[in-house]
Amino acid sequence: MSKIEIKKIVKALNASDGAGVKLKRSIGTPEADYIDPFLMLDEFGSENKDDYLAGFPPHPHRGIETVTYMLNGEFEHKDSTGSKGNMGPGDIQWMKTGRGIIHSEMPTMSDGKLLGFQLWINMPASMKMNKPKYDYIKSNQKTKFEDHDKKINLIAGKFENVEGPVKGHNVEPIYFDIELKENKKINIKVPETHNSFVYLLKGDLKIGSKNHEKINDSTLILLERGSNLEIFANKESKFLFIAGKPIGEPIARGGPFVMNTKAEILQAIQDYNNGTFAKY
Ligand code: CO
Repeated sequence: MSKIEIKKIVKALNASDGAGVKLKRSIGTPEADYIDPFLMLDEFGSENKDDYLAGFPPHPHRGIETVTYMLNGEFEHKDSTGSKGNMGPGDIQWMKTGRGIIHSEMPTMSDGKLLGFQLWINMPASMKMNKPKYDYIKSNQKTKFEDHDKKINLIAGKFENVEGPVKGHNVEPIYFDIELKENKKINIKVPETHNSFVYLLKGDLKIGSKNHEKINDSTLILLERGSNLEIFANKESKFLFIAGKPIGEPIARGGPFVMNTKAEILQAIQDYNNGTFAKY
């Protein structure tokens, strides 16, 4: 079993998106542009309503999956397939945009703390023009692993004999939300085919067996390939562990559209402008 070491530590950058929601972006930045198959990772959240009230009014996507995971707060989601739902603490929306979806994500809370994540996963050329599909995973549908040292919410992937609700996915994703107590460790088995990372929300972690700089709060830790990941908590920590099998295709980015070529991006813009984008 090869032990996984850190490849790069990337401090999340302050950014804003939608109608001015403040967020911290880590993947999809100059330091970590594309961690195949992951295109973007945002931590959004604030205790100040002015940072989030404007929300994400209607906007399109093509060629990607967006995975939204709420930890605190309430959002309402609506999209061009007719889906509509409220997201509360612990809920996940896993959206395969395929050829086109137009959606909005607006806070239904007027104050209090908002906290969540949005991850973009690339889709292979063979799936980019599929019909959109939208999965809503309620907080209580996530599977859980718990012992004296740790608590894991499993969204996708397997830990020991517990498996998350997202199955049969082409990138064989692992998506764990982990709480690890002070001076405790966790060992995670990872397929050697996968790219993986840890996103530390809060705490202080030691990863792998080599010395590394201090890792605390809102930091992306990109990992080398390997099969055994060991994480030790210098103090009580909360973090995500995410992994997926690379797609290995060229990408062309055009804001909310991610395709294989520039011509396909221009086509997406044209389809959006002439109203054929979200016709299924
Ligand atoms: Co969106």
